[in-house]
Amino acid sequence: MCGIVGYIGNRNATDILIDGLTKLEYRGYDSAGVAVFSNSEIKVCKEKGRLLNLCEKLEKDPITGNLGIGHTRWATHGAPSEVNSHPHTSMDGKIAVVHNGIIENFEQLRSMLKEKGCYFKSETDTEVIPHLINMYYEGDIFNAVKKAVAQLEGSFALGVISKDEPDKLIATRKQSPLIVGLGKDENYIASDIPAILSETKDVYLLDDGELAVLTRDGVTLYDSEGNEVTKEIYKVTFSENAAQKEGYDHFMLKEIHEQPRAIADTLRGRLSLDLPVKFDDLDGELIKKFKKIYIVACGTAYHAGLIGKTAIERLAKVPVSVELASEFRYNNPLIDSETLVIAISQSGETADTLAGMRLAKECGAYVLSITNVVGSSVSRESDTTFYTYAGPEISVASTKAYTTQLASLYLFAMFLAENKGTLTDAELSDIKSELYNMPQAIEEALKLEDEVKELSKKIYKEQDIYYLGRGVDYAVAMEASLKLKEISYIHSETYAGGELKHGPIALIEDGTVVIAVSTDKSISAKMDSNIKEVVTRGAYTICFANEETKASHESSHVVVMPNRSSVLAPITSIVPLQLLAYYVAINKGYDIDKPRNLAKSVTVE
Ligand code: M6R
Repeated sequence: MCGIVGYIGNRNATDILIDGLTKLEYRGYDSAGVAVFSNSEIKVCKEKGRLLNLCEKLEKDPITGNLGIGHTRWATHGAPSEVNSHPHTSMDGKIAVVHNGIIENFEQLRSMLKEKGCYFKSETDTEVIPHLINMYYEGDIFNAVKKAVAQLEGSFALGVISKDEPDKLIATRKQSPLIVGLGKDENYIASDIPAILSETKDVYLLDDGELAVLTRDGVTLYDSEGNEVTKEIYKVTFSENAAQKEGYDHFMLKEIHEQPRAIADTLRGRLSLDLPVKFDDLDGELIKKFKKIYIVACGTAYHAGLIGKTAIERLAKVPVSVELASEFRYNNPLIDSETLVIAISQSGETADTLAGMRLAKECGAYVLSITNVVGSSVSRESDTTFYTYAGPEISVASTKAYTTQLASLYLFAMFLAENKGTLTDAELSDIKSELYNMPQAIEEALKLEDEVKELSKKIYKEQDIYYLGRGVDYAVAMEASLKLKEISYIHSETYAGGELKHGPIALIEDGTVVIAVSTDKSISAKMDSNIKEVVTRGAYTICFANEETKASHESSHVVVMPNRSSVLAPITSIVPLQLLAYYVAINKGYDIDKPRNLAKSVTVE
C-alpha cells in the first residue's frame, strides 16, 4: 500500500513528484504530500484526501527545488489526516522521510525516543524513522539511515532527504518494493515502475536490506553492512502507454479489454500445439514427486486458485487444497518436502501470501509462485516463479490478472499431466488447442458488452444481488460477486446451487436479483432446477450460459457466451460478468478504479 516517488536532478522536483504520484494514486489515496529542498530548507506540503487537494495547495503556495520526495498514503497506523500523512520530519525539520510498510516495534522506539526528548506530532509508526535517523546523524546521512534501519522491525521502503546534504537522496527497503530509476544528470526512486516510466526505463530493483545513494550524477548501491554492491540494470519492457488508460474511461475497462492480448502474451512460447508444454524453469521430473499441492492466495487470486484446483485434479490427478493465505498459516497445514505450494499474487507483495510462502518453505515445501510483477517479493522468495504477462494492472478491481492467472494454472495442469502421463494424446491435444485459441474466445465474449450494459441498467439500484453456480461456475460466480461488491458497493453473496435449499433460499422474495452461471452441460439440468426454485419465489434471474446450457428458459434473461469445455470455461465466462460489475458501478456513478476503503496491493496483514 502507499506510493513513493523521489527525485534528484536539475528540474523542478515538485512537478516530477506530482506527476509520479498521479500515476501511483492507485497505491493509496487518503492523503498525499511532498518534501522539497528549497531555498536552503526542506519545505513540506501535505493534504488529506485525493492528490488533487495537494495540487491545489501547492498551486496557492508553490515549492520549487531540485531534490524531493513524495508519498500517497493508505492509512494503517493513524487515521487519514494531514498530520498523519507523509513526508514526516525530524523535530528540527532537517530530515524528511517517506515510508511504505509497517514498523512493528514503533512503540518501543517511540518510548525510547521520547525519553531522549523527542516529541511526536502524528499517530503514525513512520514518525519514529526521521527521529531515529536524526539521533544517529553525525554529518553523514547515509550512515545515519543505515544505523536507523538496523533498529527497525517490520517492513519498509524509505526515501530520505537531509537539509544538510542536499546533494543526496537515500533509499532503502525491506519487504516492501522500491526501485531506483536512472536518468541523465538526474535519478529517481519509486515504489512502482509506472511512477517514473515517463522519465526512464532503466531501473535497479533493490533487494531486501540494500541501500541506494542517489546524486544528480549517479547511483551507488550498498548492502545492509554498507559494502558497495553492483547489480544489473533492469530494462522495463512495457511502455508508458501500457500504464495509461489509452482512451478508455477507466483502467478497469481498459484492462478487461486487454485480456485477449494478456492471455496471448502469457501463453506465448509456453504453449504450442505440437510441442510439450513449457513451464519456464520448472523441472518436469521434480514436479512428479509432489504428492500434494496447496494453492495459497488472497481475493481474486484465491478465486483463480479454486479453478486451478479443478484443472489440476482433473488433468493431472494430484490432490489440491486451496487456502486463503490469511488463514493458511494459522491452520497448521500438513506440509513436508513432498508438498508443492503454489502462491498466486498479482502484485507479488501481498503480506498474507508472503507469510504463507515463508511458512511453507520453513516446513520444507517447494514453492512455485505465479505473479505479475517481475522482481516482486513473492518471486524473489519462491523456489521458482512463473510470470503472468498481464502488464501493469492499475485498477484496484483485478480483471486481466485473474484471467492470466487462470491461463497459467491451466498451463501448469497440462504440464503436470504431460509429465505424469495422466491424459491420452487426444485429450491433451484437445485441451491444448482450446487454450491456444482462448484469446479469440475472449474477443467473442467481449462482444457481449452492449447486452450486459443494458442489463446493468435493470439491476443497479438493487441493494442485494445473489450469484449461483456449480462446479467451476461456482468459483466464477464468487469472483463475479467480488467484482460487483468491490466497485458498486452492492451487497452480494454467492451460493453453490445445491446449497440453496439449506438456508439461502429464505432470502429470495419478489424481485430479488439472482445471477446464475451455467456453462457445464453435465450439470446444467441441476442448475436449471436451482434457477426454477428461485424463479418460483419471485426472483428476477439472469443466466450466463452457452449454446449447450441455455435451456434455462425460465430465467428472465439468458446471456449466451462462447462454448468452452467445462474446465476452461471460466476464462471466458468471467468476462461478461466483469463487464456487468463495471457497468453497474458506472450507473451508480462511483469511482471505478479507486473504490472506497480498498488499495491495490495489501502489503500489511
Ligand atoms: O496482488 P494480489 O493478487 O496478491 O492481491 C490479492 C487481492 O488483494 C486482490 O486480488 C483483491 O482481492 C482485488 N482487489 C480483487 O479485485
